[in-house]
Amino acid sequence: MAMPLIGDKFPEMEVVTTHGKIKLPDAFAGKWFILFSHPADFTPVCTTEFVAFAKRYEDFKKLNTELIGLSVDSTWSHIKWTEWIKENLGVEIPFPIIADPRGFVAEKLGLLHTASATHTVRAVFIVDPNGVIRAILYYPAELGRNMDELLRMVKGFQVSDKYGVALPANWPNNEIIGENVIVPPASTVEEAAERPKKYKCFDWWLCYKSVPEEEAEEARKFLERVAKPKSGQ
Ligand code: BEZ
Repeated sequence: MAMPLIGDKFPEMEVVTTHGKIKLPDAFAGKWFILFSHPADFTPVCTTEFVAFAKRYEDFKKLNTELIGLSVDSTWSHIKWTEWIKENLGVEIPFPIIADPRGFVAEKLGLLHTASATHTVRAVFIVDPNGVIRAILYYPAELGRNMDELLRMVKGFQVSDKYGVALPANWPNNEIIGENVIVPPASTVEEAAERPKKYKCFDWWLCYKSVPEEEAEEARKFLERVAKPKSGQ
């Protein structure tokens, strides 16, 4: 079975979750969603990730983004694990977790990799309000995910879509163009000649512009706020 790729529509499926059955991607139509898989319940790195996702849940919601977890464990295991997290770490897990003990969903999404044929890798699918997959990330068992980067990605996609621009490395703190954004590459000789007249350019193929000040300010403040250390909260 071909695994879904960036630009594909998220495969239609009904999944069993800790919040009941959910139809994907329709249940999140009009919203962004992040589907993230983890290798197994009751494992240390996964536990730290669930706490991290839960602590940033409100920040994701501010970006019109829902979260949904997934592993090859049963619903009972997910419920018991999330109870343990609440009782021992004081953190409620507010989003649904898909139970996929027979690996059907994992198979469809291409989450069983060489490193472990029986447990899902740490994958992240970022899906837009039209149900189109915009990003796919894979992490190994030994490295937990970074919430700041996931929030930056969703915010970045939203700015990119709104203004038809691309975003530089480390946006909004890029080493060369700061919080500015990149104008899509010129595709004709005429456009290439016009570029430096319309935008700030290092050359016709590397031009940039600002987004409205409120937008840049809002993105910077949002990302600065969510990037504040959250230890001990
Ligand atoms: C962990 O989350 O800690 C973990 C998961 C799978 C294999 C090893 C560690």
